[in-house]
Amino acid sequence: MNLALLVVLPLQLACLALCLPQNGAFYVNGNGNGEYQNGIKLHIEAQQDHLFAYRGDNVTLSCRYHYEPAVNTTRKVRVKWSKLHMDSSKESNVIVAIGLRHRSFGEFKGRVYLQQGDEREVSLVITDVRLEDYGKYKCEVIDGLEDESSIVELELRGVVFPYQPHHGRYQLNFHAGKRACEQQDAMIASFEQLFQAWEEGLDWCNAGWLMDGSVQYPITAPRGPCGGEDNLAGLRSYGQRHKDLHRYDVFCFASTLKGELYFRRHPLKFNFEGAVKACQDDGAKIAKVGQLYAAWKFLKFDRCEAGWVADGSVRYPIAFPRPKCGPPEPGVRTFGFPSKESGRFGVFCFKMD
Ligand SMILES: *[C@@H]1O[C@H](CO)[C@@H](O)[C@H](O)[C@H]1NC(C)=O
Ligand SMILES: *[C@@H]1O[C@H](CO)[C@@H](O)[C@H](O)[C@H]1NC(C)=O
Repeated sequence: MNLALLVVLPLQLACLALCLPQNGAFYVNGNGNGEYQNGIKLHIEAQQDHLFAYRGDNVTLSCRYHYEPAVNTTRKVRVKWSKLHMDSSKESNVIVAIGLRHRSFGEFKGRVYLQQGDEREVSLVITDVRLEDYGKYKCEVIDGLEDESSIVELELRGVVFPYQPHHGRYQLNFHAGKRACEQQDAMIASFEQLFQAWEEGLDWCNAGWLMDGSVQYPITAPRGPCGGEDNLAGLRSYGQRHKDLHRYDVFCFASTLKGELYFRRHPLKFNFEGAVKACQDDGAKIAKVGQLYAAWKFLKFDRCEAGWVADGSVRYPIAFPRPKCGPPEPGVRTFGFPSKESGRFGVFCFKMD
């Protein structure tokens, strides 16, 4: 026996052990005679194609598989959940499991597990749902050569709001817009989220970035300066814009709060610095814009008195419109960005649970 053979042989043995069950020519875990791959079909079904959650929830994306015709023996399958990227062209791993062994990845590490109530269930549980968990998930079961998958879409309940920074209108390129939302405890809104907000009555005459890199604005009451009276109500789109060069406002998406938001006042009112300190003295923090919108939308938080928020703007939330509290529609009203030194207002504080 020469040396070359000695080197090659272990490799071939390794491949015999590892490659055969995967190439599906026969299946050692089944009845061992190779019947399974012929005529037995793997089926997979997600229980629902759409799922709504609030931030902080635990959600179960259900998924089951079965064989036709039915197979009695336990077969070892690989289960893989992945998250599709926005344009569905790429995906990233969420969790991969073989038998009882599993591994979760990236942002999902330690936050997801498989729910296997019975042998054929391979549901994904995501705990403490985050804003960025929003999107499409693929449940995939691999048995030998058979590889079937199904898609479940996770949507978050939330509120869309237009955002303009302190230096004014149309100052944000895509990346700065995305960051601005994140700084307000929110994320850049998707087209679907803006569309839903428009259906619920959002009307805004400034164009803003969306997650897909397009720039749009929602109009419910067509009028001259907002794309013309003759145009129908709807989302007006500027299409895809250059993410570095072009500058607009941004639409942000905020979801529910895990904490308490409240208003604080002082007989003399606060300048911005005093406002920040007043919240700190309470063991809280000055509220972010996304938190104010979430409290207004989900808790009907209503205060007809202006207060500082973290980005240096001054706002007040009206859930129950009434005279002297702004327009007849509910909304979070803004006074813009007054002088941080001489402006005197109350403050909105936020205390985490
Ligand atoms: C979510 O699940 C985790 C761990 O399984 C548990 O500790 C937590 O209380 C659950 N949260 C909710 C909101 O049910
Ligand atoms: C599967 O198991 C059931 C009982 O558990 C039995 O009645 C049936 O004949 C089995 N089917 C096959 C294809 O072995």
